[in-house]
Amino acid sequence: MTTVARVIAEDSGDLTALPKVELHSHLDCCLSHDAVRRIDPGVTRERYEALFAGPPRCASLADFLKYTLNYRAMLQTERALRIAVQDVFAQMAADGVVYAELRFAPLVHLGDGLSADRVVECVAEETARQSEATGIDAGLILCTLRDHDAGQSLATARLVERHSRTGPVVALDIAGDEIAHPLDPHLPAFDLVREAGLGVTVHAGEAGGPESVREALDRTGTRRIGHGVRSAEDPALLDRLRNEGVHLEVCPASNVQTAVVPAPEAHPVDRLRRAGVRLGISTDTRGVTNVRLTQEYERLRDLFGWTPADFHAVNRDALAAAFAADPVRRRVGRALD
Ligand code: HPA
Ligand code: ZN
Repeated sequence: MTTVARVIAEDSGDLTALPKVELHSHLDCCLSHDAVRRIDPGVTRERYEALFAGPPRCASLADFLKYTLNYRAMLQTERALRIAVQDVFAQMAADGVVYAELRFAPLVHLGDGLSADRVVECVAEETARQSEATGIDAGLILCTLRDHDAGQSLATARLVERHSRTGPVVALDIAGDEIAHPLDPHLPAFDLVREAGLGVTVHAGEAGGPESVREALDRTGTRRIGHGVRSAEDPALLDRLRNEGVHLEVCPASNVQTAVVPAPEAHPVDRLRRAGVRLGISTDTRGVTNVRLTQEYERLRDLFGWTPADFHAVNRDALAAAFAADPVRRRVGRALD
């Protein structure tokens, strides 16, 4: 890697401008206080901190997910959804992101008479506009949720299929509480999207153990796992991930906040990487977790000694796993090198 940004990073220790690929970011969990105030001017800093920025440590994933509901309530109009897109692009630009995949669940933003198609269209339009304005290439992943029923998951899968023809929609994901709700009702949705040749990724191995990662791989055919960090508990699974080239979308700060790992220094990301597992680094929920991608990189440098060369390698892995068309992949590859 020979970019000016890498030279600056090596000389000054400043990782801000290092070009980054971020595959796992929930559009609906990133609103800054300024963006919330554009939507509802009455939300004070104190209220924002109480309702939107989660505590440093939640009791569980389920507890953490309660904060996401406050963002959801804010994002029920076309204007609010566009503000969310503008806000996350500004945050990503400040982090040196060159390629991003943003995800959201269209079926929980149907306030104000919006149809699911219109929700996806307006997010897609604003994403294309912000991509153009910032130079950050981006794809959209539509999420179904663990507490959706089979019909809602199929409807989300059909949205992926329809909107992939015209816009930046690239894949289906499933988010939500992986402990409380099994994958079974959602499998036909994943079959539909996979058989259409589109991308799939699955939140697993976060609150759920290694068996949840195996289940996702075996039953949805995914080659990408959101989090997957609990795979580190199972050496046979690590062999499988390495041999099959499965990519983990690792979000270290979120895993501490959801109590999946006890402390930043106990995070298995370094062990996973040393075991040869392919992975990239993301923020998951910039607002709920009160984190920036550059901060995630700084922690990895300070705790595990990661160098700009290590960051280049994980960004290359993330680009290889991205649901991006070849021209985008080549352009982003040049930005990384
Ligand atoms: N897991 C499951 N659902 C989510 C998450 C997560 O980390 N973040 C936002 N929705
Ligand atoms: Zn997530």
